[in-house]
Amino acid sequence: MDLGSLEITGGVPLHGEIGIQGSKNAVLPILVACILGEGICVIENCPQIRDVADTLEIMRHLGCLVQAANGTVRIDASCVDTFETGGKEAARIRSSVLFLGALLGRMKKAMLPLPGGCAIGERPIDQHIAALRQLGARFYLEEKIMADASDLKGGRVRLAMPSVGATENAILASVLAPGETIIEHAAQEPEIDELCEFLRLRGAQIGRTVEGNICIQGGRALRAVRYRMKSDRIVAGTYLLAAVATRGQVTIKDFPCRELDALTSTLRAIGVSVACIEDRIEVNADRPLRAISYLETSPYPGFPTDLQSPMMAVLCRARGESCICETIFENRFRTVAELQKMGAKIHTEGRCAVVKGVPTLVPARLTAPDLRGGAALVIAALQTNGTSVIQNTGYIERGYEDICRDLCGLGAKMRWGM
Ligand code: EPZ
Repeated sequence: MDLGSLEITGGVPLHGEIGIQGSKNAVLPILVACILGEGICVIENCPQIRDVADTLEIMRHLGCLVQAANGTVRIDASCVDTFETGGKEAARIRSSVLFLGALLGRMKKAMLPLPGGCAIGERPIDQHIAALRQLGARFYLEEKIMADASDLKGGRVRLAMPSVGATENAILASVLAPGETIIEHAAQEPEIDELCEFLRLRGAQIGRTVEGNICIQGGRALRAVRYRMKSDRIVAGTYLLAAVATRGQVTIKDFPCRELDALTSTLRAIGVSVACIEDRIEVNADRPLRAISYLETSPYPGFPTDLQSPMMAVLCRARGESCICETIFENRFRTVAELQKMGAKIHTEGRCAVVKGVPTLVPARLTAPDLRGGAALVIAALQTNGTSVIQNTGYIERGYEDICRDLCGLGAKMRWGM
C-alpha cells in the first residue's frame, strides 16, 4: 500500500451538514454487472476511489471501452472479448471475485487469479464456488480459478451463510442463465437490493421474496441504462462517528436513515441525541458518552462489521467498560495496537475487545492497518488535543473519496501529508 499520510490536529467539535459519496460496496458489483450486456451504461455519482479505478482497469482488460470523469463512468461492454481478468488489479482487490459470476453469465467461461486473504481475514470463496456450482458451473482450481459454464441454467442456490459477495456472484451468473433461480439465505445488505434495482432497470426480472430470498427469471437480454448511485452507508456511519467522537453536531443529508438503524440505536444507547427524519440523520453529542456493555457485529440489519473499528475509536473515551465482539471477520482488531499508542485501554479476548474508557487520548504517529481501521484512527486523532500523523493512508483511499476534504468541511483541522 502506498505511504500516503494524514496530519490531524484534534480538539475541534465537528459541526455542519454533509452529503455522502456514492456507495463503494454497491458500485463494485454494479460496474461488474455492466459486462452482462451490450451498449453503453452510464453510472453517475460513482465514488472516485482506488477500488473503482482497479475494477475499471479490469474491465478495460476484458475489452470494455471505459471513460471516467468527475464521478460519471461510461462503459461500453459490447466488445468484451476474453473471459480472463488478467492478474495485477484482479489480485489486488477482493471484489474482483465478482467477475467470476458475470463472466460465466456473459462468456460461459472465467479465469481469475486465486484471491488471496487480506488484512482483515482469510476471506475464502468456498460459498461463491458452491453457489455457482449449483447453477451448473464446473471449476478447475490450480494456480488460477478456471470455470466453465457451457450449460449454465437457473436453479435453487442455498448459501450456508449470508455472504454478500457470494449472493452477488450468484445474481451476476443467474441473470442471463435461462430458467428460474432462487437464492436462499441471501445476504440482506442494502447493496444487494441496489444491485437488483440496477438490473431491473436493465430489464432483468429480479426481486426479493418476503422470506428475504432473491428470485430471478433469467435469460433475458439486458439493455444499457443510465443509473445514479445511492450514498455510501459506511462512509455516512464513519462521519457520524467522527462527529460523536469530537462531541459535535452533524447532519448527514440525502441518506436513508433506516439503513443505519443498528448504528443509530447504539449511539442513543451511549447517550447521543439522534434525529432521523426521512433522508437526514442528525447527531448531537453534547453530553459525556456512556460505555456499551455488549456490542457484536452481525450481517445486515445487525451492527455492520465495517463500523466496528470506527465505533471502537469512539468508545475509547466513553465512561465505563465496553465489550465489542467481531463475529464476521477473524482478524479485524488490528486497530487496537494503534489505539493503545494513543493511551486507549483495550485488551482483546478471542473475537472480543474490552475497552475501558479514558478521559483523553494523546496524539501519536500511527499506521493504518486496513481500510476501516485507518478511518478509525482518523476518528481517534480528532479526539486528542494535539497533532497526530497517520501513515499508509492508501488503505483509506480505497473506500473514502477524500476523508480530509469531507471532515475539514465540518471543521476538522487535517491535511494530507507531504
Ligand atoms: C463485503 O465483503 C464487503 N465488501 C465488506 O466490506 C463487508 O465487510 C462484508 O461484505 C460484510 O458485510 C464489498 O462489498 C466489496 P462476505 P465480502 O462474503 O463479500 C466468510 C469494506 O470495508 N466467507 O459477506 O467479502 C468471510 O470470510 C469491506 O468495505 C466465507 O467463509 O463479505 C467472512 O468471514 C470489508 N466463504 C464472512 O463470510 C465465502 O465464500 C462474510 O463475508 C465467502 C465469505
